[in-house]
Amino acid sequence: LELTQEEQFQARIDADIRIEPKDWMPDAYRKTLIRQISQHAHSELVGMLPEGNWITRAPSLKRKSILLAKVQDEAGHGLYLYSAAETLGASRDQMLADLHSGKAKYSSIFNYPTLSWADMGCVGWLVDGAAILNQVPLCRTSYGPYARAMVRVCKEESFHQRQGFEIMQTLCEGAPVQKEMAQEALNRWWWPTLMMFGPKDADSPNTAQSMNWRIKRFTNDELRQKFVDMMVPQAEFLGLTVPDPAVKWNADKNGYDFGDVDWEEFWNVVKGNGLCNQERLGARVKAHEEGAWVREAALAHAAKRKQRASE
Ligand code: ACO
Repeated sequence: LELTQEEQFQARIDADIRIEPKDWMPDAYRKTLIRQISQHAHSELVGMLPEGNWITRAPSLKRKSILLAKVQDEAGHGLYLYSAAETLGASRDQMLADLHSGKAKYSSIFNYPTLSWADMGCVGWLVDGAAILNQVPLCRTSYGPYARAMVRVCKEESFHQRQGFEIMQTLCEGAPVQKEMAQEALNRWWWPTLMMFGPKDADSPNTAQSMNWRIKRFTNDELRQKFVDMMVPQAEFLGLTVPDPAVKWNADKNGYDFGDVDWEEFWNVVKGNGLCNQERLGARVKAHEEGAWVREAALAHAAKRKQRASE
């Protein structure tokens, strides 16, 4: 019995054998990966902006250097991810053009404003916490270059998360106004963080096929549940209250029940109408334009070196 190319491909996936750039793959697999990896890369780049906003206002030299390092890490994550997408035949210029024109998606979470220093705590603790939960399983995703890129990204993300938690802990152990600042930030970030995991499984057009191809190892709802189960005890430890009256331990499912996300808000942000969508894209396009001379200089330098080597 001869297996078709597609059946052989699926058999490799089912046996947990990684797919590598030169292997045959269905067009739809390639397309899905380019979509997910490029959206992920864009999220890392845009993700620098809400925190970049606080670098000049960090409360101490130590906090400032940590924040600078973290934002640089995110630029690095974006670069590994664009490289992974390039192994599938995507062009970096095209991916960036799609980001800058507003055609490509990036994570909804980065369209919310960072209003107080406690927001740096919440971004590290909650946003990077959600990112790790989503990305640790991606170290076992079926496409080799994506999986390998995720290993280093996850190590760095876990440092980011700890630094965020530590900011929250410092505020919660501080003066009453500092603790209030922490609670106020949690109130604003909690629901948008739950949205990071994407629509409910029943409304997620890509989950079933991506699970079958082992691009995703858990569904959106599974990861959202894990997140709530991880974060509610951490909030309690900090002495903070998660802004969802429906949160309640459910012994039968060995997890917390929680309320429903405002999906209208989610889709509104995804469609480009969130609080900061325009500001974020504007800042990204400006940074790209202002960096044009660096790209030109790097290309000229590379050409010169090549010329010299051939002389
Ligand atoms: N923000 C913006 N768009 C989203 C979000 C979100 N939080 N969640 C889902 N979407 C989009 C999807 O990209 C998809 O759009 P498309 O079909 O036009 O490409 C649509 O909504 C439907 O969602 P799903 O069918 O559930 O899409 P998918 O299977 O790709 O799952 C998920 C979404 C979970 C985000 C997945 O792509 C993923 O795991 N990506 C890698 C991780 C990542 O990108 N993280 C970014 C934030 S973390 C960080 O950068 C620090």
